[in-house]
Amino acid sequence: MKLRTSSPDETEIFGRRLGALLEPGDVVCLSGPLGAGKTCLARGILAGTGATGPVSSPTFVIVHEHPGRVPAYHIDAYRLECGDDAAALGLEEYLPGEGVAVVEWPENIPDFIPPDALWVRLDRLPGVGADDRDLEVSASGPRSERLLEELSHR
Ligand SMILES: Nc1ncnc2c1ncn2[C@@H]1O[C@H](COP(=O)(O)OP(=O)(O)OP(=O)(O)O)[C@@H](O)[C@H]1O
Ligand SMILES: [Mg+2]
Repeated sequence: MKLRTSSPDETEIFGRRLGALLEPGDVVCLSGPLGAGKTCLARGILAGTGATGPVSSPTFVIVHEHPGRVPAYHIDAYRLECGDDAAALGLEEYLPGEGVAVVEWPENIPDFIPPDALWVRLDRLPGVGADDRDLEVSASGPRSERLLEELSHR
């Protein structure tokens, strides 16, 4: 599934639609370069799950837990360099966990990403408006396929 957003608000609204579909144990991976809009999308997804509390780009904290309709874990693996770091933080407890996990920089912790996850790739568009982003959503297993289907029917 591909879509284009033209403002941070649009990206966040798409995230809300996705977040509303999520159930405990779901894992959503957000990939794309620095400044692509991963945290912006995560904010929408977490709002859609009913999560409370502000969603920020954590400077030192790798995992933010948000209580809500389902518990949500926002993980930013940007500063993690190897699986040892992730293991030391106990990340496997969240992937999957008792709530929804939203992961930025999943490429940094490949061994911790479950086989069935929903992936969103965000990209800036060269030569197009500075606020335009391409989003490509893909699934890697039965649960994420179902999510993708529900998402594309809305
Ligand atoms: N269509 C858009 N969708 C999302 N963000 C946008 C869009 N247009 C402009 N922006 C801006 O791009 C920036 C995206 O920042 P954000 O922190 O979400 O990126 P990120 O991918 O999480 O970066 P990092 O890799 O540093 O964590 C914000 O300043 C946001 O306002
Ligand atoms: Mg970010």
